[in-house]
Amino acid sequence: MRPEPEKNATAAPLRHLAVIMDGNGRWAKRRLLPRKAGHRAGAKNLRRLCQMCGQAGISYLTVYAFSTENWKRPEDEVATLMRLFIEFLNDYDREMESEGIRLRVLGDVSGLPANVRESMLAAEERSRGRERLQLILALNYGGRAEIAAAVNRIAERVLQGELIPGQIDETTVARHLYLPDVPDPDLIIRPSGEQRLSNFLLWQGAYSELWFSDVLWPDFRQDDFDRALAAYSERERRFGGLK
Ligand code: FPP
Repeated sequence: MRPEPEKNATAAPLRHLAVIMDGNGRWAKRRLLPRKAGHRAGAKNLRRLCQMCGQAGISYLTVYAFSTENWKRPEDEVATLMRLFIEFLNDYDREMESEGIRLRVLGDVSGLPANVRESMLAAEERSRGRERLQLILALNYGGRAEIAAAVNRIAERVLQGELIPGQIDETTVARHLYLPDVPDPDLIIRPSGEQRLSNFLLWQGAYSELWFSDVLWPDFRQDDFDRALAAYSERERRFGGLK
């Protein structure tokens, strides 16, 4: 039986976990497989992660699936990823339903190929009433693009006379982000040895705890998850204040 992560009185409950699913390409390379095999293994591991989150009582899971910068990858890799997103929704649909998983998209959906956009929007619609876990796929997502989009919407509302420039504060900006009802992530995990945010949840991650590991995403398992949660439970979150 695996040990319960230790609870520290100072740690806030972990409601929202965010994960940068990095290392698929290196995972494949080490096995002399094409990169797409790594992405496929990464998608399979996302299903495992949803189970782990459900069991841990986590309410929101945001995963970085495709960034605004990932369009720079070779055309065939981008096409593979787009196919995988649709396949994931089709193959995982029944399980998401039985697990009570609501699916949501975070990003500029208008920039996605029509078939991906339609599959995502349909999956969002089908799963709207589910409450156990919100699985948020960051697709065509960039933190800077999200903030720029919020600024544009705020500017439009100023022009309409609905907002007054001197009164725009952090709450106003947060309300104009893509998913304003979702709480900020408590913990952001990045496996694969890289230690950066890569334009992920720049606004929302201002006070998130960060946890890094050398394990490549497709190999990230329950013991890694438990280690991350145990580390989180030891953190003292002060949000800029004092203990
Ligand atoms: C980064 O690893 C990973 C991505 C850019 C794509 C993440 C996508 C998946 C895990 C596929 C499935 C997702 C869903 C939602 C079904 P990398 O390719 O940059 O790895 P590397 O740094 O080792 O090359």
